[in-house]
Amino acid sequence: MTKLKLMKEEDVPEGGFVGVKAGGNQYLVSKADGEISVLDGKCTHWGGPLRMGKVVEGSVRCPVHGARYDLMTGELTKQVGIPLIGKASDLRRYEALIEDGHVYIEV
Ligand code: FES
Repeated sequence: MTKLKLMKEEDVPEGGFVGVKAGGNQYLVSKADGEISVLDGKCTHWGGPLRMGKVVEGSVRCPVHGARYDLMTGELTKQVGIPLIGKASDLRRYEALIEDGHVYIEV
């Protein structure tokens, strides 16, 4: 396991997210009610850049075909809007470790 430092905890916006690149991958770091969550930053459908998505009712909406994922759990909350181009699935969620005011994950 490798420990990756993602960002300062204080820079994660309550009710929103930040896209972070670390260790060659993209992650979304979000906060709700003071709790930090870390998810994969690429859509499970066609790899859309979720860092460019918008927050809709606690989920991030992929800017490519509109799949939505719960920001705290990674659960798919809305399937791709166009049924003929395949389906999305849940995003991987990582346990967020808070140390010295920074957010880390183990990969
Ligand atoms: S790439 Fe995200 S919904 Fe298609």
